[in-house]
Amino acid sequence: MELPQSVEIIEVGPRDGLQNESNFVPTQVKNEFIIALWRAGFKEMEITSFVSPKWVPQMKDAAEVMRVSGDHQGTIVLTPNKRGIDAALASGAKAVAVFIGVSSSFNQKNINKTTEEALDGLLPHIRSLKEDGIFVRACISTAFHCPYEGEIAPADTLALCRVLSDAGVDELSVADTIGKATPKESFSLFTLLKKELPEVLMAAHFHDTRKMALANIYASLCAGITRFDASAGGLGGCPFAPGASGNAATEDVVYMLHRMGIDTGVDLNLLNEAIRIVEPHVSRELDSWYYQSYKEEQSS
Ligand code: HMG
Ligand code: MG
Repeated sequence: MELPQSVEIIEVGPRDGLQNESNFVPTQVKNEFIIALWRAGFKEMEITSFVSPKWVPQMKDAAEVMRVSGDHQGTIVLTPNKRGIDAALASGAKAVAVFIGVSSSFNQKNINKTTEEALDGLLPHIRSLKEDGIFVRACISTAFHCPYEGEIAPADTLALCRVLSDAGVDELSVADTIGKATPKESFSLFTLLKKELPEVLMAAHFHDTRKMALANIYASLCAGITRFDASAGGLGGCPFAPGASGNAATEDVVYMLHRMGIDTGVDLNLLNEAIRIVEPHVSRELDSWYYQSYKEEQSS
């Protein structure tokens, strides 16, 4: 099996991780967390989202987060609509992530639109962002399973990815929103997507609800994926996808890849120090294997 010598980790903890927190993490803590994560060596990071504060109050400080931590060239922000895009651009964003699910039921809950309505709304924005020279990432939710509709046909995921790729997005981040995909499904879908859409950057985004995220990352590596979203401390989830617990914990992903001789450019000690900054402010236990063993070592 030929594996890559290096992979890119797109850190999504400050966005996916903190959007699902029951507590509002203070803006200053978010900024310290993000700055510490940049220091750990990430080249790309979703740092916040310009969404409705009525829907996701945890992201209401997006402009302030951008003002303090947004000048790194790898900064990405999530946006759901024109208003979010305008605010993101006004804050200096050079890379924007738009998001849409394959399943209409999920989109109705997440953005109050069907898949068709959401796509109709997105396509002109994508074209105009590309005219402005902005890097566009499209996050594809429920690519494998939907909490409301069940299993998603790979052909439907491919069809949505194809429309977005044809519209000119630079990257597709294909997500197992509720952490239900098996390594077999991941290998199969990513093999299909790589074959059918070879010209677009492709990332894999796994939630770890059923503890299969690492196995899915390995299966996706075998299918030729070299870009992975992951979240420091394993934080994460979507407030509108019941059963979507944390993302693949970045520190466990990096540890596994380094042990396999695959470079990520991430310093694990600095990553753990970044997690320490946010840990006292989140409601859940950060129980990734690598972070737990780091803490045990520190206290012995
Ligand atoms: P809506 O209620 O249909 O639309 O929400 P609206 O236009 O009536 O807006 C509602 C209110 O929000 C209005 O305020 C708007 O002005 C305001 P009011 O007039 O009532 O005072 N508003 C905004 N405020 C700030 N920024 C904006 C914005 N837009 C409207 N951009 C809407 C539609 C799309 C806005 C809403 O549903 C929304 O914000 N949804 C976001 C949901 C979300 O953030 N989900 C998590 C991210 S996706 C995810 O996590 C999945 C991913 O990780 C991959 C995976 O794992 O699957 C990416
Ligand atoms: Mg997610």
